[in-house]
Amino acid sequence: MKALLFTGVKEPLVYTDVDLPEHDDTFGLVRLRAAALNRRDYWITLGLYPDLRFPSILGSDGCGEYEGQEVVINPSVHWGNDPRFYSDDYFILGMAEDGTFAEQVAVRKKNIYPKPAHLTAEQAAALPLAGLTAYRVLFSRCQARANDKVLISGVGGGVALLACQFAIAIGAEVYVTSGSEEKIEKAVALGAKGGANYKSPESMKALQKRSGGFDVVIDSAGGDGFNQLLKMCRKGARIGVYGGTAGAWNGVSVPNVFFKQLSIYGSTMGADAEFGQMLDFVSEYEIVPVVDRVFDLKDGNEALQVMKTSRQFGKIVLRIANL
Ligand SMILES: NC(=O)c1ccc[n+]([C@@H]2O[C@H](COP(=O)([O-])OP(=O)(O)OC[C@H]3O[C@@H](n4cnc5c(N)ncnc54)[C@H](OP(=O)(O)O)[C@@H]3O)[C@@H](O)[C@H]2O)c1
Repeated sequence: MKALLFTGVKEPLVYTDVDLPEHDDTFGLVRLRAAALNRRDYWITLGLYPDLRFPSILGSDGCGEYEGQEVVINPSVHWGNDPRFYSDDYFILGMAEDGTFAEQVAVRKKNIYPKPAHLTAEQAAALPLAGLTAYRVLFSRCQARANDKVLISGVGGGVALLACQFAIAIGAEVYVTSGSEEKIEKAVALGAKGGANYKSPESMKALQKRSGGFDVVIDSAGGDGFNQLLKMCRKGARIGVYGGTAGAWNGVSVPNVFFKQLSIYGSTMGADAEFGQMLDFVSEYEIVPVVDRVFDLKDGNEALQVMKTSRQFGKIVLRIANL
C-alpha cells in the first residue's frame, strides 16, 4: 500500500510503498478515504515529541471503510477506566503505533465507530482528535452551558474552531480571538457574536468591554497573552487549557485568579465514552467540521507547510482514496 513515511527529524515525509500493517484479530484493517493533520504531526516532524520511531507512519485522524461500513477512528488508545485522566499505557494513534497517513491502518476494533451520516469522508476525517479534545475541555471540564459567555482563543486552530461550533450549538454566547481579522469574520459567519485580535491589546480591551467578560475561556496558546484572558474572566469563570503553543504563562496576575475565584482546568484528548458522546453530539446538532483545504496523500509535505504558518481556518485534510 502507499503511505507517507516519517524517516527522520526535520526530513520531508516520503511517499512510498510499504507492507500492509501487521495485526492480530483484536484489530481491524480500515481502508482509509481521508486523514487530517493535527499540530501534533507537525511537532513530531520537528522532533518535539518523546520516543520517536523511524520509519513510521504519522496521522491520528482518519475516516474510511471497515467491513462495508463508513467509519471514523478514535485516536485515543488505552485511556483506561478513570474518567479524570488517562492510564500510564495511554498513547495517541500515529506515534507510537502507525497512523492514518496511509491507504490502510490497523486499529483496535473498539476504536472503530460509525461515521456521522451527515458528513462527507473529508469532513469526518477532520473530526476525531480535535472533536474529542474540544468536547472534553468545553463540556466535561468547563461545564459550558447555554447562556454562558464563552471566549475561544486562536479560533483558526482545528480544536478551537470545533469548540467554537460546539458552544454555538448549545446556545452559548460565543466570542473568539484570532491573529487574523478574516478568521474572526469567518467565525462570526458561523454564529460567533464577535471577536478581537490577540495581537492588539486595544482590541482585546474593547472586546472585554463589549462582552461584559466571560464565564468560560478555552485556550491553547498560553504565553504572554494568558494574563489578558484571565483579566477578561468574570467572577467564578472556568478556564480550559489544552495546549501551550505560545509557551509559558508569563506575567500572570495571581490575585486575579484567587480574588475572582477562577478555576483553571487542564485537559487532554478524552475518554472512550467522551468520544462516543462527541459523535452523538455532532450528529444531533449536525455540526460540520470546517475543512480549510484538501491535499492528496502524496502532497502531505505541502499540507505540513500550511500548518507551519497557521494560514488555515479549520482542518487540513489528506485525500487518500475514493472507495
Ligand atoms: N491536549 C490535547 O489533547 C491537545 C489536542 C490537540 C491540540 N493540542 C495543542 O493545542 C494547540 C492547538 O492545536 P491545533 O491542532 O488546534 O492547532 P492548529 O490547528 O495548528 O492551531 C493553531 C492556532 O493557534 C492560534 N494561535 C497561535 N498563536 C496564538 C497566540 N499567541 N494566541 C492565541 N492563539 C494563537 C492560531 O490561531 P489564529 O490563526 O486564529 O490566529 C493558530 O491558527 C497545539 O499546541 C497543540 O499541540 C492539544
